Amino acid sequence: MREMAIKLVLFCLCFWRLDDVSGQEIKLLKSGDSVTLKSGLTEMKDDDEIQWRFAKEKTPLAEILKQVGNLTVYGDVLDGRFRDRLKLDHQTGSLTITDIRMEHTGLYELETKSVMKRFFLNIFDEISMKDGDSVTLNSDLTEMKDDDVIQWRFGNENTLLAEINKQTDSMTVYEDVLDGRFRNRLKLNNQTGSLTITNTTTEHAGAYALDINNERKMFLLAVYDEISVKEGDSLTINSGRTEITTGEMFFWLYMNEIALIARTKQWDDNITVYDDVLDGRFRDRLKLDDQTGSLTIRNITTQHAGRYVLLKERGLFKALSVSVYGK
Ligand SMILES: *[C@@H]1O[C@H](CO)[C@@H](O)[C@H](O)[C@H]1NC(C)=O
Ligand SMILES: *[C@@H]1O[C@H](CO)[C@@H](O)[C@H](O)[C@H]1NC(C)=O
Ligand SMILES: *[C@@H]1O[C@H](CO)[C@@H](O)[C@H](O)[C@H]1NC(C)=O
Ligand SMILES: *[C@@H]1O[C@H](CO)[C@@H](O)[C@H](O)[C@H]1NC(C)=O
Ligand SMILES: *[C@@H]1O[C@H](CO)[C@@H](O)[C@H](O)[C@H]1NC(C)=O
Repeated sequence: MREMAIKLVLFCLCFWRLDDVSGQEIKLLKSGDSVTLKSGLTEMKDDDEIQWRFAKEKTPLAEILKQVGNLTVYGDVLDGRFRDRLKLDHQTGSLTITDIRMEHTGLYELETKSVMKRFFLNIFDEISMKDGDSVTLNSDLTEMKDDDVIQWRFGNENTLLAEINKQTDSMTVYEDVLDGRFRNRLKLNNQTGSLTITNTTTEHAGAYALDINNERKMFLLAVYDEISVKEGDSLTINSGRTEITTGEMFFWLYMNEIALIARTKQWDDNITVYDDVLDGRFRDRLKLDDQTGSLTIRNITTQHAGRYVLLKERGLFKALSVSVYGK
């Protein structure tokens, strides 16, 4: 039965990007979702100009020049990654992105004559797998650039598994690390930098980090611990810590519908539960212990069944699959 619960959870995450310190609106989405990034305007003024941009490179995605009545959507940028996926509302300037994929993770910027808004989309994807399966962790690069440095790391100790350095034109796979649990199982694609792990077992569960020129993307190979709870009971999901230190960040996610339900804060030693998410399904039921970071869900119902993940720093995490049975 345990095999059923192995999931590969893909997401792209720097922890501060789940944080709102930099004035970004964070959105957590599942692969396949649609999202509307709201301009906040009810109607554009006659001389307004709106531009939507994507990522660090600030690639233009869409713009409206009201005065000349021009509305343009640049679906073909970035190898067509946004093709047929963008809808621009000509009244409000809001941008809708449909059928979201991992490659749409990132920062979106709206600039008008009077407003500047930022959104960060974190896209999560879950793939079911079982013992013995192969899994490819996709770098999302079609080709590496001449000065790219790509590193794959695993687990608590950030153990280096594989490395491509285009500057020195070298490619190395460290199969013997961690008592050889990856021996004869790693395949590194020399074109894209993607890593394939063949014949996976529960020993390979953990967090994989892909660092491309100092930007990090995470992949969790999660073996969910299974637990049954009686309807009406409380469930405490242990953080595994007796004390969390100031500044440590913990994020609790409900994976079935991808929602952030609780977190500790980085800056002010504070904890927050988001019990209004998912139409109030968790309202008045969540308690986060500020000493230990453990989460209690009170008076559980079948609506709270599902997968929970606790993300800690440096790719540590805990995964739990909760089923609920009747009284
Ligand atoms: C309207 O947008 C199109 C496509 O970007 C551009 O070729 C054209 O010059 C624009 N027209 C005006 C008046 O700005
Ligand atoms: C990349 O890998 C392929 C297949 O393993 C191999 O044929 C090719 O020579 C490699 N290219 C480089 C530049 O290492
Ligand atoms: C897969 O791994 C198991 C042990 O972890 C080993 O016994 C088996 O031979 C491997 N299968 C293949 C096809 O390599
Ligand atoms: C935690 O945050 C809440 C709301 O932002 C605030 O009212 C409360 O005083 C904070 N508590 C501590 C201990 O900082
Ligand atoms: C538990 O939840 C159910 C369903 O939402 C509700 O009807 C009931 O009043 C709750 N019980 C307590 C003790 O909060």
